[in-house]
Amino acid sequence: MALHRLTTLSLGVPDPVATAAFYRDFGLSETAPGVLATREGGDQLRLSAAPKRRLIALGLGVEHPDDLERAERGVRAIGFEPRREGGRLVVHDPGSDVALELSVAPAIAPAPPARARLNSPGQALRRNARADAFSRNDPVRPRRLGHVVFTSLDFASSRRLFVDGLGFRVSDELPGIGAFLRCSTDHHNVFLQEAPIRFLHHAAWEVDDADEIGRGGKAMVDADPSRHVWGFGRHYVGSNYFWYLRDPAGNYAEYYSDLDYVDDDAAWNPGKVEGMLGLYAWGPPVPPEFIAPPDLLG
Ligand SMILES: [Fe+2]
Repeated sequence: MALHRLTTLSLGVPDPVATAAFYRDFGLSETAPGVLATREGGDQLRLSAAPKRRLIALGLGVEHPDDLERAERGVRAIGFEPRREGGRLVVHDPGSDVALELSVAPAIAPAPPARARLNSPGQALRRNARADAFSRNDPVRPRRLGHVVFTSLDFASSRRLFVDGLGFRVSDELPGIGAFLRCSTDHHNVFLQEAPIRFLHHAAWEVDDADEIGRGGKAMVDADPSRHVWGFGRHYVGSNYFWYLRDPAGNYAEYYSDLDYVDDDAAWNPGKVEGMLGLYAWGPPVPPEFIAPPDLLG
């Protein structure tokens, strides 16, 4: 697959300084004003001033310069007009009003986590010792940007750009709502949703395991309870554990772990998921603001 991961997320927000402070608390490192890095993905979040929050651009990494030419031909063939900007290929998606910025980017080779030893019936991997979670005192730091969920006013056109033009695979679909798309071994890197307004619903940042989600979410909510949106729970589609928090601009930020990993397209069976399973397998009840972010109403 020519595309292999998300690289960057560019957000316009009313108060970049306050929003950057939120993401520092979330575990990203501010390497320059408004530029925030993950542990393994480098600078992945760019914040700039805008009257209202909006998703400006999504960066997509390719393996080789030839992949940019292939992508350029692919999107031209279906009627989009990409442009070259330095070493990047930029395609504007009118449906979402998002600039897709393709560039050659190194693959992330994640360092294996210090494995938590979990006991289960008949299998005591941890004997005569407390859980590893209790010895973790360092701040939670996400490894990388994993996926983004955003809307399009023209779902069919946006879907065509991602799938037919850029080569994203469809992992699962929520009929009448949207599609989970991947450009890597992650079950989804993009969830494209049909909606009457354009907005970023959330960006998801990978941490090692459920304990890291719990530790990170608790620290964020202890510092400011109004940040809490939804969690702790587990999704059915993609399987990931989740906890969603709200940044000062109104975007949601998800800590996640244990997402489905797809490295054999023939072995994965995309499904059409209906009802509440489209939202979650278990967890607290879905809060209304998860479905309809309150800053977008009225
Ligand atoms: Fe998510």
